[in-house]
Amino acid sequence: MKAIIGGTGFDRMEGLALTRGVVENRYGESELFVGEGLVFLPRHTSAHSVAPHMINHRANIQALADLGVDEVVAIYAVGSITDRLRPGEVGIVSDYVDFTGRVHTFFDEGEVVHTNSDEPFSSSLAARARGEMADLVDNLVYVTTNGPRLETKAEIAFFARQGFDVVGMTLAGEAALLAERTIATLALAYSINWAAGVGEGSISFISDEEIETLKGEIIRLSRTILSV
Ligand code: HPA
Repeated sequence: MKAIIGGTGFDRMEGLALTRGVVENRYGESELFVGEGLVFLPRHTSAHSVAPHMINHRANIQALADLGVDEVVAIYAVGSITDRLRPGEVGIVSDYVDFTGRVHTFFDEGEVVHTNSDEPFSSSLAARARGEMADLVDNLVYVTTNGPRLETKAEIAFFARQGFDVVGMTLAGEAALLAERTIATLALAYSINWAAGVGEGSISFISDEEIETLKGEIIRLSRTILSV
C-alpha cells in the first residue's frame, strides 16, 4: 500500500475513487481517504481545520502503518528562505532541522530506541522523482518551526545564515515518526511565499490558481513515482 500525505493546498484529492474513513488507534483519530493501493492523508484534515502545532502525527502515521503502507510521498507547502527554491517551484527535501520543541516519537515508554536520522528520506524514491521531473530542485534543507505564527525577520535571517533553504511547520514530526515505522518517504516541498523579510515588503502568498496548477503537477508526479 502507498500513501500521499497532503498539506496546505492539498486537503483534497480530486479525480480518484477514494473512500473517506476515520480510523482510531491508541494515539487517537485520523481522517483518511482509501482507494485501490493508495491512501490519501490530509494532515490538516479535509476541512483544513487542524493547525500545524495541533496535528496528531502519531495517530496519522500509525494509521498508515496499520494499513501496511510502505512508501509515502509527503507534500509540504513552505516559505522560501533562499532562492534555491522560489515561490511557485517544487523541490526534494533531503534533510531537516527541528525547531518545534515538540516530542515526535513512538518510543516514549518501555523501549529505548534511537532511530537513525542521518538519511531521513528514501534515496530510491528521490531517484524516481528526479527521473520523472528534470527541473526539480534538489537537496533542500527544511527547517521546521512550531507555528502557528509565521516567523520573525530575525528568525528567518538566522535560518538563512545556517544554510536552511525552506521553512514550514510540519515536516520534522512526520519524518521522525515515518522513520520509526520504517516507511520509505519522499518529501516534496513547494513554495508559496518568500519567508519573512526575504522578499520585498511584507509576506504575500502565490495565487490560488498557481497553487491549483502546482497541485496538479505534484499529484501527477506523486502518482507516477508510487505507480498508483
Ligand atoms: N513559514 C512557515 N511555514 C510556512 C511558510 C512560512 O513562511 N509558508 C508556508 N508554510
